[in-house]
Amino acid sequence: MLTNEKRTGYEAWLRYEAAQYGIVREAYASQCSAISALGSSKVLVTAVQELAEAVGAITGQQPKIAAPPERLSSGVLIGVKGMLDPELERLTADDTAQIGDEGYLLRTLPGAAGEADRIAVVGGSEAGALYGVFHLIRLMQQGEPINALRVVEQPANGLRMINQWDNMDGSIERGYAGKSIFYREGKFTEDFERVRDYARLLASVGINAIAINNVNVHRVETKLITEAFESELKKAADVFGAYGIRIFLSVNFASPIAVGGLTTADPLDSSVRSWWADRAAVLYRAIPEFGGFLVKADSEFRPGPFTYGRDHADGANMLAEALAPHGGIVIWRCFVYNCLQDWRDRRTDRAKAAYDHFTPLDGNFADNVILQIKNGPMDFQVREPVSPLFGGLSRTNQMLELQITQEYTGQQKHVCYLVPLWKEVLDFDTHAAGEGSTIAKIASGAVHNRPLGGIAAVSNIGDDDCWTGHPLAQANLYGYGRLTWNPALPAEQITKEWIRRTLGGDPSVGEVVEDILHRSWGIYESYTSPLGVGWMVNPGHHYGPNVDGYEYSKWGTYHFADCHGIGVDRTIGTGTGYAAQYHSPWRETYNSAELCPDELLLFFHHVPYTHALKSGKTVIQHIYDTHFAGAEEALELLESWQTLEGKLENGYFRLAAARLREQSEHAKEWRDVINTYFYRKSGIADAYGRLIY
Ligand code: GCU
Repeated sequence: MLTNEKRTGYEAWLRYEAAQYGIVREAYASQCSAISALGSSKVLVTAVQELAEAVGAITGQQPKIAAPPERLSSGVLIGVKGMLDPELERLTADDTAQIGDEGYLLRTLPGAAGEADRIAVVGGSEAGALYGVFHLIRLMQQGEPINALRVVEQPANGLRMINQWDNMDGSIERGYAGKSIFYREGKFTEDFERVRDYARLLASVGINAIAINNVNVHRVETKLITEAFESELKKAADVFGAYGIRIFLSVNFASPIAVGGLTTADPLDSSVRSWWADRAAVLYRAIPEFGGFLVKADSEFRPGPFTYGRDHADGANMLAEALAPHGGIVIWRCFVYNCLQDWRDRRTDRAKAAYDHFTPLDGNFADNVILQIKNGPMDFQVREPVSPLFGGLSRTNQMLELQITQEYTGQQKHVCYLVPLWKEVLDFDTHAAGEGSTIAKIASGAVHNRPLGGIAAVSNIGDDDCWTGHPLAQANLYGYGRLTWNPALPAEQITKEWIRRTLGGDPSVGEVVEDILHRSWGIYESYTSPLGVGWMVNPGHHYGPNVDGYEYSKWGTYHFADCHGIGVDRTIGTGTGYAAQYHSPWRETYNSAELCPDELLLFFHHVPYTHALKSGKTVIQHIYDTHFAGAEEALELLESWQTLEGKLENGYFRLAAARLREQSEHAKEWRDVINTYFYRKSGIADAYGRLIY
């Protein structure tokens, strides 16, 4: 039962209830009776505070905090490899040899005769030690034994990043959980308490980088790189820095003109280059641990190097040169396409754009540039193939971009657990360098042995009590972080952890919530746009059904439904040729309507409504069946949540119930709009005679 929350769902997965069994409580209390850090840096101080708070709440007994250099003969010792006392260094050497920066060791060290055991938490760096502490906390929250620990962990990805799409007026682009926790009315918030609580949540799942403003950099935000916001930026960097997180800024490529008083932003112009170099120097003087720049250029009306006849490598390298002396990096987005397309033009294919723009530049980017590539070739739809650009670059740093905020997946009014979707993306084998060239390994840099790599995602939080609008959407933020650390974690394990930590140990609650989460993506897909074709949403805000909402628009997002059939021919022979951007066997698989997986059929092929799917159904009957079933299942989600009444804290229960009720109503709207549209287009009746309007 949830109790003692400051606000409904506010503590998220860092909610510490007393361990269920007295014997476990006692064991934890004695194993963690004292805590000592071998060092006094700010991240180690955080680690001690975090552990002390958790132990106090979970055991009911406050641990003693030993001030350095006092050495403990029992309890938890927290330190950094290479900076331990000689005895501890020797005892842990076998294991610490395996950890690099940010990794950690958790190890029980048997005490001498008559002495208690000690637990060593040794990081490859201070941040590593903090991650080790959060691991220990995770074990205790789940009632796991901590008496014989020998855990060695190393993150798979160097960059584990969050992108805030927050604007300084307090709004959040594609935000569905209230206003920004960072900004109000053109200024930073004065109260950083909430920012600190966010940093805690992020660090607890291993996030180490955050871009704190929207990739669409507007007027006021362009000034973030000037002295105007220096003290606030320092403050933000300190708050995140105490949790091992580096801050980045999204920058406006035209800054030299907008705030620098220059007449050009040409990346090859020497005055532009020295202007950026000065900016970088000023920023790093104020914030030595500053991460670097995130850039959306020549994309959706943002300025970029194309204006000057330069390419994206010219643009990115110019910024990279400015940041390099300070150890900074440039994260350059590949979301570049023609957003002023003529819908009559059937040859241009937005899906091809990123690959076409960036593969010719492979090898031209500086070593401190990373290309950030969205998981699909379009834009975070409920179903898309994996972007072929990941398989098209071998001499360039790349990172994967995901969207935690549910722009096209129900806007945190519908439950849509995205971890299974992300797992499919991460496990996808591009075959770029033979079998096993998965997206997870390309993004981390492992496949092509790149110096930099990682994963970024657009955050789903705002100033809502529960952070994420829908309490169950917290599971997406949690799961995202866990996957950036270890993309091989099974979705089920992540789900179980999140539930246990957030909602407690009642198995009857756990089963229901796990079932809801794991069914949710499939259900959402079933009542929205079918078979991978995407969109069919209301223009602008992207919520709710509108089959032709984007059909005659400039955005390059079409389904081409007529009275005979539907889908986009992206084949090599008769279509846009997009399928050729994949390596074999995907190229052949996607190119063939017979081999193409059902769920992506309409992404790759234009087929008649009577086309038989692998499931044996026709396309039209599939549309009807999934939409009827999806709306029913959305109602089932609500009904199963309702069985939890009395088992969860009331406010939390009611908030999710209200969201699930809205979802089940809205799913009916989706069902009826989609079914009616296709019935009217095709003239083919539902085989079961159900009500279509
Ligand atoms: C989507 C989204 C925009 C966003 C863009 C981006 O198109 O709707 O709001 O700016 O992605 O990723 O840059």
